[in-house]
Parts: sequence; C-alpha cells; structure tokens
Amino acid sequence: PINLSGRPFLRLLDFSTEEIEYLLKLSKNFKDLKRTGTPHRYLEGKNIVLLFQKTSTRTRCAFEVGAMDLGMGVTYLDPGSSQMGKKESIEDTARVLGRFYDGIEFRGFAQTDVEDLAENAGVPVWNGLTTEWHPTQMLADILTVQENFNYDIKGKTLVFMGDAANNVARSLMVVCSKLGMNFVACGPKENMPDAELVKTCEAIAAENGCTVKCTDDVKDACTGADVIYTDVWVSMGEPDEVWAERIKHLEKFRVTKEVMAMANEGAIFLHCLPAFHDTNTTIGADIAERFGVTEMEVEDEVFESKASKVFDEAENRMHTIKAVMYATLCG
Ligand code: CP
Ligand code: NVA
Repeated sequence: PINLSGRPFLRLLDFSTEEIEYLLKLSKNFKDLKRTGTPHRYLEGKNIVLLFQKTSTRTRCAFEVGAMDLGMGVTYLDPGSSQMGKKESIEDTARVLGRFYDGIEFRGFAQTDVEDLAENAGVPVWNGLTTEWHPTQMLADILTVQENFNYDIKGKTLVFMGDAANNVARSLMVVCSKLGMNFVACGPKENMPDAELVKTCEAIAAENGCTVKCTDDVKDACTGADVIYTDVWVSMGEPDEVWAERIKHLEKFRVTKEVMAMANEGAIFLHCLPAFHDTNTTIGADIAERFGVTEMEVEDEVFESKASKVFDEAENRMHTIKAVMYATLCG
C-alpha cells in the first residue's frame, strides 16, 4: 500500500509512478466529494502556512480552499510580510514555522530554498512553484487529461509549445515519462529543457514504454498530438528585458488554429494559466504596445475554443492540492 504520510512534495522526480497514480486517484475522489457536497473534514485541528515570494491566484486559493474543506486553519504570508529572507534565514524560519504548523507551502525562486525549508521544518513542505519545478500543477494537468481520455492516458502524446526550458515544461516532461505518456518539447534550441534532465527522463520513459522528444519542427511535433500545452513566454522572476528576444524566438511556436488542426481528432488544449491570449490585461496591453503583437503564446480563438480545457484544469488544482495535503498529513 502507498503511504506518503510525512513526505515533502518538492519535485515529481522523487515520486514513483505508483505514488503519482495514487495521488491522481485520491484527487478524483476529492473532486467527487466536493461535487456531491459531501463533507470531508479529515484533517480537523491541523493548521498550515502558505509562504509566497511570488504572486499567485490558483495555487494560493487551491491551498486555502483545500485546507478549509479539510477542516484546517490557514495562514497566508505574502512576499513582503514575513521576516524570511530579510531579517531571518530560511532555516530559522523553517524551525519556527515547523513548531506552529502541520504543513508548509512555499512558492519562490530557487529549488534549494524549498529544499532548505523541508530539511529544517520537521513537517511536510509542498512546492507551490520554483524557478525549476511546479509539481502540484502537473497533477491537475494530468487529471484533466485523464478526464478527457477516459482515464486511459498511456501512449497518449503531449506537446509543450514555447519556452520548454521553464518550470512547467520540465515538470511535464517528468510526469509524462513516469505515467507512460509521450512528451514532445517544441521550441527553439535555446529554450529546451537541459540535456541532463532530458537524459534522465528518456531513461524513465523507456521503463514506462513512452518517449521524450525535443524539436523545433512544429508540424512534426503536433501531428498526432493528443494534448497541446503552452505557458507564458516569460516566467515570474525573469527580467523584463527578455521579452523582446522571447517574442522573436517563440512567435513561431504560438498555439494557433493551424497548430490545433495538426493534432489528433479530439485533442485538447491546456495552459497552466495565467495566459496572454489577448491584450485585455494591464500587462498584456503594455506588452502589445511595446512590441506590436496582440497575441502571445496562444491565439484567443484557441483559448476560447471547445478543445480548451484550461478552466477544468484550473479547478483541478484545488482537488489535486487537497490530495497532496491529505496524503502527506494524514496519520
Ligand atoms: N498555474 C498557477 O500556478 O497559477 P497561479 O500563479 O495563479 O498560482
Ligand atoms: N512558468 C510560469 C508558470 C506560472 C504558473 C512562471 O513561472 O511564471
């Protein structure tokens, strides 16, 4: 039997195929409980803290609502309001918060920071995104794929378009390899996952009967795809100056109607969100004016199409994060 009690959740490379499948099953159960209005206050009396060094909508709210549904108390600490990283080290913060709380969520920059936190807290630490990884996102993504392909995802092909060197693409490559899905990174050579990780994932994929591919050929990548996935071209924490270069290199890898048409019949579109699909946001309008482009990683028409499952995917963040908290905190 799978037992994740007390385990930190820092990156998917640390989890076996069976453990990831168990978390997905648990997520589906929690989704059913929520849908039917069945109370599930299994962790009553526990408390968790959310530490954010970067902004968030989905991850923060998923942890908050998930914790409240499970009967737990929650404290949110925004990027400016704790001593951590200014007057106090991560190690000392961990040793203090570990005495108050039963679990700690962290969103920040270096993966080594969330690792330091986990080493010193004495309670489970969950990675809510670092520059390197975004492991909770993957569970929601895969649950969404399962829901659209009758829970039979082995042998399906997921193509990530754009900045395939980022936290989301790297995490997708790992989860696909572990779960028997073919993974294709499609982008320019300078935006590919690092060679060492590709090698690691190729070996994992081989064990699970699937493949990993990196290419800059859109047609080759998307023909026969079941899932087309993209993310922002510039991630949180990257300097503003990279926009010009990214737009120039990544425009060829925008998810358009033509790209979706190359994919298999019934293929779906996913995006972790937030997305630049129109200029209807402050940042979108600013970028549009500065660079003369109105769409970024995905065309509005694709984003709003029937194939787009991005809001199911967003909802699934809550059910999957609940599963992670439950699995690691239950006795
Ligand atoms: N997808 C995701 O992590 O969204 P937030 O940045 O809003 O948490
Ligand atoms: N790659 C994005 C993901 C946001 C959820 C970022 O790190 O900003």
